[in-house]
Amino acid sequence: MSEHRDLTIHGQWSSRWTFVLAAAGSAVGLGNIWKFPYITGENGGGAFVLVYLVCIALIGLPIMMAEIMIGRRGRHSPINTMRILSQKEGASPHWKYIGWMGVIAGFLILSYYSVIAGWALAYVFRAAGGMFTGASAEQVGTIFSTLTDSSERLLAWHTLFMVMTMIVVARGVKSGLEQAVRFLMPALFVILILLVGYAMTTDSFMRGLHFLFDPDFSKITGAGILIAMGHAFFTLSLGMGAIMVYGSYMPQNASIASTSLIIVGADTLVALLAGMAIFPVVFANGLEPSSGPGLIFQTLPVAFGQMPGGSFFGTLFFILLVFAAWTSSISLIEPAVAWLVENHGMSRVSASVWAGAAAWLVGLGTVFSFNEWSDVTLFGKHFFDLLDFLTANIMLPLGGLLIAIYAAWVMTREVSRDELAMERPVLFGLWRACIRYVAPAAVTIVFLNAIGVLGG
Ligand code: PFF
Repeated sequence: MSEHRDLTIHGQWSSRWTFVLAAAGSAVGLGNIWKFPYITGENGGGAFVLVYLVCIALIGLPIMMAEIMIGRRGRHSPINTMRILSQKEGASPHWKYIGWMGVIAGFLILSYYSVIAGWALAYVFRAAGGMFTGASAEQVGTIFSTLTDSSERLLAWHTLFMVMTMIVVARGVKSGLEQAVRFLMPALFVILILLVGYAMTTDSFMRGLHFLFDPDFSKITGAGILIAMGHAFFTLSLGMGAIMVYGSYMPQNASIASTSLIIVGADTLVALLAGMAIFPVVFANGLEPSSGPGLIFQTLPVAFGQMPGGSFFGTLFFILLVFAAWTSSISLIEPAVAWLVENHGMSRVSASVWAGAAAWLVGLGTVFSFNEWSDVTLFGKHFFDLLDFLTANIMLPLGGLLIAIYAAWVMTREVSRDELAMERPVLFGLWRACIRYVAPAAVTIVFLNAIGVLGG
């Protein structure tokens, strides 16, 4: 072990807890509160949730450990980490393309992530202005479509959010972020519990729970399984180097296994709480669970409009949602920024501006796909759906598959054993079995099944 192992040119988290907060900040985001409910609604509920949970445990958790391990060992941007480690292990330099695919996936995800985060920003002001007070589901629906029908409005909010992202990334992921995550994450948690409390007062609470937790396997398809698996990667920020780059700033003595468990646990809890808050309101108001990306924006305001202090809680909720999205979006471009700094000698400021501007430009496609271009489709999907499908369901699982193969088959057993330093050998064995066989096989089968090779 050489001394330079503890150092990166980008700095290091001040403690293990900072890493946990930053990684949890990356994981918990729109994926949990906006995407999880709507894809669950589109894919029939319980069975989909079950597949998602199995993927989190058997694929997500072990791959998260692998990503942190690789990052901390390489101590560079994912592209350079993969190149440097491969050189050390005497493996092909081509493994660096995992890093490249991650950078591209991060860009593409950020481009639409920022547009959706822009909706949340817009909703902060709508909630604060009392627009939801006493509003019917129909009126809330109109508020939503008025927003998404207007490309100018979406563009303005998208631009604002992207600038916010660039500012934090330019300052360095550590300063600012540490403070923000420490208070805002617990606050988000509390407000979600409050929303679940409200959902309990509706007469549809049990119906919501049954929808979420009663698996009906006749409702799930091969495509649904692919979406559930893709979402396990998306929600945990895996498969594109975000967790890897955060791992590269992690102190050497922190435990990777217990840290990963905390992050995965917190992320899953937030998603399930969001589901428990939303579906009862959906059913109580006769809304469609399968109404798509607008789901939370069309249902939660109805709840806020009816509860006492709703304007206050609604405003707070959307502010926290923006923060959750913010702490995720910065991790989406961090791999690219770290690489620009390392390989092109750019300052963090110019690297952030260039990377953010590029993602902003691609984001225009998503902005227009909700209005001007809503009729333009490819394979039956418009721009936003296509981008989301390509990144979350193909690029992230593919990246994760390659990371698993690298950690299990290229890195030696000894290296990973030392790096993970797990107290119980049984648990290490379990991790290795998952990363070596279970995760790669599962991802491959789900891919093949979705392509239809196995008749899915
Ligand atoms: N995990 C984030 C969410 O659930 O909203 C999204 C995300 C962030 C995906 C970072 C991928 C990533 F690298």
